[in-house]
Parts: sequence; C-alpha cells; structure tokens
Amino acid sequence: MARILQGVTGSIAAYKAAEITSRLTQLGHEVHVILTRSAAELVTPRTFSTLSRHPVHTDLWDRTEEFTEHISLAELPDVAVIAPATANTIGKLAHGIADEILTTTLLAVTAPVVIAPAMNARMFENPVVQANMALLRERLSYRFVEPGSGYLACGDTGRGRMAEPAEIVQAVLDALGEVTCGGGSDL
Ligand SMILES: Cc1cc2nc3c(=O)[nH]c(=O)nc-3n(C[C@H](O)[C@H](O)[C@H](O)COP(=O)(O)O)c2cc1C
Repeated sequence: MARILQGVTGSIAAYKAAEITSRLTQLGHEVHVILTRSAAELVTPRTFSTLSRHPVHTDLWDRTEEFTEHISLAELPDVAVIAPATANTIGKLAHGIADEILTTTLLAVTAPVVIAPAMNARMFENPVVQANMALLRERLSYRFVEPGSGYLACGDTGRGRMAEPAEIVQAVLDALGEVTCGGGSDL
C-alpha cells in the first residue's frame, strides 16, 4: 500500500480525475486529494472524499485543519499526481508561486511528481506553457503524461486533451515502482 497525493485543478477534465482516485483506491493505495478552488467549481469534494474515504483539502485557511496542514500533506506521499493540471497550476509550480493549498503543498513535496496536463490546444502549444513544462522536467524531474489529440470541450480539436485515467494510473504505478523497488513496477 502506498500513499498518493492527488491534486485536481480547474480543467473540465476534472470529472475524469474521480476515476483515477477510484482506481488507485481499488488497487489498495491510500489517496489524499487536494482540489483547487477552480476544480471545486467543476467537481465536488464529496465525490473525492467518498471515493478515497479520506477528507478532501480545498483551502489553505480552512479553520478545521490543524497547524500547517500543507506541510503534513507534503510529507505524506510516496508519489504525487496532478490530474488534470491546468496551464495556470503548471505555470505557478514552475515559478515557485504558492498562493493556495495545492501549489503551496507541492513546493514542499520531495516525492516524485506526475503531471497530466489538460487544456485547449492553443494553450498547450503556447511557448510559455511549453517552457514551464520544460522547467519542471529539467529542474524538478517532474514526469509528464502527455495529453492526446482529439475533441476538446471548447469545441476545438487538437492536442491538449488529458491522457486517459488508465494511462495516468499506470504512470503513478511506474513512479511508485521506482520509489519502492528502484525500477519497474508490478503494483
Ligand atoms: C468551464 C471551464 C473549463 C476550463 N478548462 C480548463 C482546462 O481544461 N485547462 C486549463 O488550463 N484551464 C481551464 N480553465 C481555466 C482555469 O480554470 C483557470 O485558468 C483557473 O485559474 C485555474 O485555476 P487552478 O489552476 O488553480 O485550478 C477552464 C475554465 C472554465 C470556466
């Protein structure tokens, strides 16, 4: 059993994130979910607390949280995954901006991080977004599950559609395999 921190950001693909939570939980892993405020506009915390059977975190200043919850959350995972990851969150992570619970927590995470971008094709191709992803790959060894091409919620077609949940789960398991066995994964 591994501990996984799942960040969900404000992409329309957030509805697919629930399947990732469900699959990882069914595999026997402990999943702790953080939703950004934008994500919580699209999907409800209750979906994720029900699937993970753990409280969901949405607010750095939540008065029911004790002490510095973001640091406790950062110390917890064997692997962290952000799926879907918006252009905004990718940009903030690349530049050390910590203005809400997910990016603040991620700044203190030392476990491997898997990122599944999801956005409009023009956003994804924007050189600034590409540079931010390169920065995270090169400086922090973040792993990216590349988005696919196809129909996008905005009505466009192109590259930016979040990878399928099964592929993202596999990337998490691969990262876990490297943490626990030093290579390969049968998890
Ligand atoms: C309905 C809707 C869908 C959105 N989908 C995306 C998306 O797929 N990818 C993206 O990068 N931003 C998307 N956005 C914009 C983000 O929600 C916005 O940039 C927000 O600030 C992201 O905040 P977060 O990164 O903290 O979740 C969407 C906005 C709306 C209203």
